[in-house]
Amino acid sequence: MKTIIEPFKIKSVEPIRFTTKEERENILTEAGYNPFLIRADDVLIDLLTDSGTSAMSAKQWSGIMEGDESYAGSKSFYRFESTVKKVTGHKYIIPTHQGRAAEKILFSIVGGEGKFIPNNTHFDTTRANVEFSGATAVDLLNEIGKHPEKRAPFKGNMDVEALEKFIEKVGAENVPLAMITITNNSGGGQPVSMQNIRETKAVCKKYGIPLFIDACRFAENAYFIKTREDGYKDKSILEIAQETFSYADGATMSAKKDALVNIGGFLSLNSDELAMKCRNLLIVTEGFPTYGGLAGRDLEAVAQGLEEILDIHYLQYRIRSIEYLGEKLVENGVPIIEPPGGHAIYIDAKRFAPQIPPHQYPGQSIVCELYLEAGIRAVEIGSVMFGKYDEKTGELIPPPMELVRLAIPRRVYTQSHIDFVLEAILEVFKNRGKLKGLEITYEAPMLRHFTAKFRTINN
Ligand code: F0G
Repeated sequence: MKTIIEPFKIKSVEPIRFTTKEERENILTEAGYNPFLIRADDVLIDLLTDSGTSAMSAKQWSGIMEGDESYAGSKSFYRFESTVKKVTGHKYIIPTHQGRAAEKILFSIVGGEGKFIPNNTHFDTTRANVEFSGATAVDLLNEIGKHPEKRAPFKGNMDVEALEKFIEKVGAENVPLAMITITNNSGGGQPVSMQNIRETKAVCKKYGIPLFIDACRFAENAYFIKTREDGYKDKSILEIAQETFSYADGATMSAKKDALVNIGGFLSLNSDELAMKCRNLLIVTEGFPTYGGLAGRDLEAVAQGLEEILDIHYLQYRIRSIEYLGEKLVENGVPIIEPPGGHAIYIDAKRFAPQIPPHQYPGQSIVCELYLEAGIRAVEIGSVMFGKYDEKTGELIPPPMELVRLAIPRRVYTQSHIDFVLEAILEVFKNRGKLKGLEITYEAPMLRHFTAKFRTINN
């Protein structure tokens, strides 16, 4: 059979609410043109994030009832720990309430003034946690990954040569760890090859630097390795994941992605000393090491989700659904990051709305129009999220790319939802000449995209 279907049937449904265009105009104005500030109930199809938005399976829900809520040593912790160990092979598994809690603990300990953390591309919370510790976050993405229109199988790869040069420049003693984000969320959800992970590890090893994996979407990355990299066709997703983690000394994980849960995360480590320090800090900030900010039931759901994510039928449907949306957009001339990545479609806003310069936030303008047009919520990943101000001139320093991310929640929307999204994007694209720039009227000093307010520029 050629048709790839959702590998599940639906037991429980949740209505979505339709609004009129006029209502959406009011809602958006009230939200200061920032979809983060819109109520979810006012959104028809929510593609803000694939994080924590998964539909859990019947087995996960029954795990919720099985959850052991003992403060210390709960049965659920041991199930969680053994599942995470099976996948990562790491010695210490520390539960946290989500990915950024793992990052906060890790970088509070290894970060600090004068330290540098290289990554293929830091996600925004990872960068924020590195910088909050006083350290410097450095992105060393492979050149091909910086060109949205160029197709390559592994556009998330680390620039290994640049990594080595960088370590030489700042001194290995100032690089407490290197990180590799799979898939590379901020760089378009693009995968990283096993070869690249291996080569990154070799450089790290040469300089005695531990390698950590930001593992949120490790299974989607494994699927790309299986289907795109020589030598992996006959390997299972579990085997590929195990090999991936075998090159790492530790990992941070937001279970809200590839563990198919609504909350959860972990930090996995091999170093005895680092694990002890992390656990001590965990007790202060998250909770006792056998629950780390989660309920026992959450640990059950993560353990079950980690089993389910390894299913090849699920991953095939997941990746194909996104690829389908990407293909149709490209056929119709919509500029996106090609080829589509694992969890989202990234519209290239620079080419979509070339009349709007980066300092008038072309991505944010497209995001707003998609909401007005069809009640779809997407997110800008460009100058709003990553723009910095020049300390001297106060001018915006835009990041290399202006993107709009349409992240697809796992197991939530069906094929006809995807077709609806396609239709809406094509409509906005048809009228792209009318898109207007925006200016910021309020912004917070850090992670401003969450709370910033905008107004349209009328000229
Ligand atoms: N690392 C990556 C690559 C991520 O994509 C995220 C979250 C995190 C770390 C932090 O995890 O949210 O559990 O604290 N990404 C979400 C997103 C928020 O929408 O892409 P968290």
